[in-house]
Amino acid sequence: MDKFLVTGGQKLSGEVTISGSKNAALPILAATILAEGKNVIKSVPDLRDVTTMMQILRELGVKVTRQSNGDIETEVQDESKSTAPYELVKTMRASICVLGPLLAKRKTARVSLPGGCVIGVRPIDLHRKGLTALGAELAEEHGYIVGKAAKLTGREIFLGGAFGSSVTGTTNILMAATLAEGQTIIENAACEPEVQDLANFLAKMGAKINGIGTHRLIIDGVKSLKGTTHTVIPDRIEAGTFIMASAITGSQITIKNCRLEHLSGVIDKTKEVGVSIVKTGEHTCQIYRTQDLKPVDISTLPYPGFPTDMQAQLMAVLSLANGISVVTEKIYPDRFMHVAELNRLGAHIRKEGPYAIISGVKKLSGAPVMASDLRASAALVLAGLAAEGTTEIQRVYHIDRGYEQIEKKLKKLGADIKRVKDV
Ligand code: EPZ
Repeated sequence: MDKFLVTGGQKLSGEVTISGSKNAALPILAATILAEGKNVIKSVPDLRDVTTMMQILRELGVKVTRQSNGDIETEVQDESKSTAPYELVKTMRASICVLGPLLAKRKTARVSLPGGCVIGVRPIDLHRKGLTALGAELAEEHGYIVGKAAKLTGREIFLGGAFGSSVTGTTNILMAATLAEGQTIIENAACEPEVQDLANFLAKMGAKINGIGTHRLIIDGVKSLKGTTHTVIPDRIEAGTFIMASAITGSQITIKNCRLEHLSGVIDKTKEVGVSIVKTGEHTCQIYRTQDLKPVDISTLPYPGFPTDMQAQLMAVLSLANGISVVTEKIYPDRFMHVAELNRLGAHIRKEGPYAIISGVKKLSGAPVMASDLRASAALVLAGLAAEGTTEIQRVYHIDRGYEQIEKKLKKLGADIKRVKDV
C-alpha cells in the first residue's frame, strides 16, 4: 500500500493540465454496450475506477483496449454475457451504470448490488423506479440485482427522491430509454455536466435526445446505435481541487483544460474566500490569492450549486480562514470522514448532524493521517500542503481512484510531495 509524505509550506507556481472527467468517462464507457461497431473515447483518465470499468466491460464481452495515445477503443464481441460480478462492483459503485445499457441492449442483466459506502447510505431506488417504469422486471437475488426486459417502452418518469434527483440514476434511465420503443420523458433529471457529456455521446451514437443540460430530458427511442468517437469533458472536481490548492497555499497557478462554466458554484464560493480566478484563454484560467482567507457558509447542492465532491477540499481551506464557517452537507449528510483527520492536523472542526462548524486556526501542523474516501483524501493532501512539517497520508489508493497522478502534478507546481511504499 502506498502513502504520501507531504511537507507543507512551499508556494506553488506554474501550470497544471486537468485530465478527463472520471464521472463522465465511467457512464460513457458503460454506454458503449449499446453500440454496434467500434467506439473511440478520448481523454479518459488513467485511474483505478476506469480500469475497474474496463474489466467489467471485458466480463460483459466487450473488447476494450487502451491505445498508446491514451484513447480507449471498445467493441462489443459477445452479447451472451450479462453479469457484472461482486468482486469488481464492490470496489466501485459506478458499476451500476451497466444496468440500463444491459437491459436495453441484451434484455437481461445481473449486476451485483454495490454494498456499503463510507460517504453514507447510497440507495438505488431511483434507478429501479425508472427502469421499472420503462418495463424492466427487477428482482434482488443473492446480492445481485437481476433484471429482464423483453421490451422497453417510453414513459414519463419523475426522478425524485428524499435528496432530489440522482446522477447515475439519470444516466441509467437515459441509456435504457435510447433503445426503448416510443418517447421517454425524464422529469427532474440530474443535469450535471457529466450527464450532459453522456447525453452528447449518446446523440453522436444516433440517440434522439432533447433537453440536454436541463432537468427535463426527452428521449425518442431508436432501433440501434452505432459506434462513434468522443472526447470526455475535463474533470471539474480535479480543477476545483487545484483551485483549492492555490487557495490554501496562497499561490498563483495556471489551470489548463478547465471548463469554468462547469465550476460556477465553486468559483462563487472560492471568490468569497478571497481567491481570484481569471479566465485567460478558452479553457485556461489563472488562480491567485493576495489576502487572508475569509470564512464562508456553504451548502452542497445539485449542479450548478456547490458540489458535494468539493466539500472536503473547501473544508481544508476554511480550516485556515480568519473566522467561523458553516458547511451543510445536503447530498450525503454523513460525508464528514475527513473532519477527524483534519482535526489531527490542528483544525478546529465540530460536526453536528449534517453541519460542520469550522473555527479557522492560524496554522496546521503535519501528522500521520488516514485517507478514508476519494475526496476526503484530496482534502488531506491540501491540508498537508499548508501544514507545518510533514503530513503522512496512508491508504492513498483512495485518491488513485479519482485523481490522475496527483502527486506528479503537484510536484511539478513545486509542492514537496512523495509517494512511498508503506511497509
Ligand atoms: C454521483 O454519484 C457521483 N458518482 C458521485 O461522485 C457524486 O458525489 C454524486 O453523484 C453526487 O453529485 C459518479 O458520477 C460515478 P446520486 P451517484 O445518485 O450518482 C440519493 C466522487 O467522489 N439517492 O446523484 O451515486 C443519494 O443517497 C463521487 O467522485 C437516492 O435516494 O449519486 C444521495 O443523497 C462519490 N436514491 C443523492 O440521491 C437513488 O436511487 C444523490 O446521489 C439514488 C440516489
